[in-house]
Amino acid sequence: MSLAADNGRSLRLTALTKEFATFTAVRSLDLEVPAGTFFALLGPSGCGKTTTLRMVAGLEVPTSGTIHLGDDEITYEKPYRRPVNTVFQNYALFPHLDIHENVAFGLRRRKVKDVDQQVKEMLALVELESQAKKKPPQMSGGQQQRVALARALINRPEVLLLDEPLGALDLKLRRSMQIELKRIQTEVGLTFVHVTHDQEEAMTMADTIAVMNGGVIEQMGSPAELYENPRTTFVANFLGQSNLIPGSVTSAEGDVVRVDMHGTQVSIPADRAHTRSGDGWVGIRPEKVLIAPAGEPIDAPGNHMTGGVITDVSFVGVSTQYLVMMPWGQELMAFEQNTGRRAVLDKGTKVDVSWRPEFAFLLPASQDVNAGVLEEV
Ligand SMILES: Nc1ncnc2c1ncn2[C@@H]1O[C@H](COP(=O)(O)OP(=O)(O)OP(=O)(O)O)[C@@H](O)[C@H]1O
Ligand SMILES: [Mg+2]
Repeated sequence: MSLAADNGRSLRLTALTKEFATFTAVRSLDLEVPAGTFFALLGPSGCGKTTTLRMVAGLEVPTSGTIHLGDDEITYEKPYRRPVNTVFQNYALFPHLDIHENVAFGLRRRKVKDVDQQVKEMLALVELESQAKKKPPQMSGGQQQRVALARALINRPEVLLLDEPLGALDLKLRRSMQIELKRIQTEVGLTFVHVTHDQEEAMTMADTIAVMNGGVIEQMGSPAELYENPRTTFVANFLGQSNLIPGSVTSAEGDVVRVDMHGTQVSIPADRAHTRSGDGWVGIRPEKVLIAPAGEPIDAPGNHMTGGVITDVSFVGVSTQYLVMMPWGQELMAFEQNTGRRAVLDKGTKVDVSWRPEFAFLLPASQDVNAGVLEEV
């Protein structure tokens, strides 16, 4: 059931800024969300995600900048006049109304005809047809979340804003609702802007992710682009995990940047090198790091280093996660799939380390190596 207009309009934020007294919560944000796409705003607590959504919904007045839908400016439009609906973390359903009437609420208030048929279609979309007579307190968190979604979608907004809508659900239900939400978005074809601080959630669902940090967008792109080729240490650490190893550029010619990393020459493709001179951080994802007992051949030789010692082994079912102490005193993470190809290596084993050059990236040394590292909980 497509709810989208044929000539969908993109949502565009230009130099959008929000100051609270002397504190800048959102700083000159520029972004464009193409019509009909699933867009995620990802970032740590306090980075300005909710403030951005509230400006789009009209619940917060920007200090400066503009908001457009297609060619129409809506920066100062009243909230109820915008073709935008919001689903919040606390679903805010009416506890005394049954599910059918909860979903019907917006249309009844606008005196729309044919409400019951539309409610039935919406409940079918979120797979709750059989629950129409129940009241919200008789439903699970995931079911209530789907009612909230049906209640927002029945108004046929052009843009649906979702602020941590799955935050109250336990992990398993959260994972299944992520897939469900993506299915519904694909089916209705509307623009979804989804706010989350869960990087796995953003990667599972979004066509495009904007990573926000301290009121600004650090990087925007497809989940794979951001993961494979982060431009900042914050993105490298916040979206998954990264090994970041200090080195200095020795040459930058053509397609390859060469870096001296504690005496080993490694190469990095130029389009993944975000600095071309001076010192930098050589980045490599833990699952791209291959290890083998010292002197034994490594599967896919590339940038090659000797002298590692395994200092920690944790078995996590699908993979084994190793920490390897390198001669220069830094522990690298190496994640290996448990394919049974060879036995798990013991702590204390001397190993060589390698990775294919095409997987490495290079970031300027001026960036904070610990930016975006999740604090231990
Ligand atoms: N009304 C307000 N007055 C003053 N400061 C505010 C106000 N609303 C938000 N802030 C501040 O702006 C910053 C961004 O807040 P915002 O709610 O947008 O963060 P968020 O990214 O949604 O975080 P979370 O993931 O915790 O929900 C925070 O530092 C917050 O304290
Ligand atoms: Mg928030």
